[in-house]
Amino acid sequence: MADRPYILLSCGTSIDGYLDNGSEHRLMLSNDADLDRVDEVRAGCDAILVGAATVRADNPRLVVRDRLRREKRVANGLPPTPAKVTVTGHAQLDPRARFFRTGGNEKLVYCASAAVTGARERLGQVATVIDGGEPVEMTRMSEDLYTRGVRRLMVEGGGRIHTQFLTAGLADELHLVIAPFFVGDSRARRFVEDGRFPWHPDRHAELVDVRRIDDVVLLRYALSQRFQWD
Ligand SMILES: NC(=O)c1ccc[n+]([C@@H]2O[C@H](COP(=O)([O-])OP(=O)(O)OC[C@H]3O[C@@H](n4cnc5c(N)ncnc54)[C@H](OP(=O)(O)O)[C@@H]3O)[C@@H](O)[C@H]2O)c1
Repeated sequence: MADRPYILLSCGTSIDGYLDNGSEHRLMLSNDADLDRVDEVRAGCDAILVGAATVRADNPRLVVRDRLRREKRVANGLPPTPAKVTVTGHAQLDPRARFFRTGGNEKLVYCASAAVTGARERLGQVATVIDGGEPVEMTRMSEDLYTRGVRRLMVEGGGRIHTQFLTAGLADELHLVIAPFFVGDSRARRFVEDGRFPWHPDRHAELVDVRRIDDVVLLRYALSQRFQWD
């Protein structure tokens, strides 16, 4: 396999494993202290990736919020906030979304081959559109990100994206935060979809840390030999 970045998956779920509650409103699965922890993790990465459905549903900024962290990155010769990356098959993304408008940093759109021309017309002013194959293949995309200088990639969801990184064996580390409530609605998105995962009853993922953060809990798993304590 060619070089790829160190890949850290980050996710918050309800006690019953849901990423959202199936409504059009963003579900808060974190608290202030945990959001600050996520900000610190972001500040240590070269790029942050989410799926196109998350860009549409949550309209996230995906920037480093803390001024001192941004200044520290700049002092180290980095852009104030990591590059942003998304993946799409149909490229129905709004160039006015916060993903594209905020951060003043590089935005990369890995698009399925058939939609690349339309994506470049729609998003060419605000992002670099890359042909990612049909469909976009996570290993190939990861290797391409490496050639663009991304050494540490943070994947922030949603479930379809997490599933592909996990089943492809690309994830080096997982941060799973459990919020103290249930969703109880199977129309909502789960952390992962069905799939063949490298970790199962006969091969356990390695739990390396458990941390209480106010009313949520952070579970940290090492998923590869490349796992690094920071
Ligand atoms: N709790 C959390 O930590 C957290 C974090 C992030 C998101 N979320 C929630 O998760 C939900 C979204 O999750 P999701 O699983 O529905 O979607 P997602 O993983 O965010 O994005 C899925 C979309 O990405 C594109 N895509 C994914 N794999 C692709 C491939 N191999 N080739 C081409 N395109 C590909 C497709 O975009 P197109 O449809 O454009 O073709 C697909 O519809 C939202 O409700 C959001 O609020 C929660």
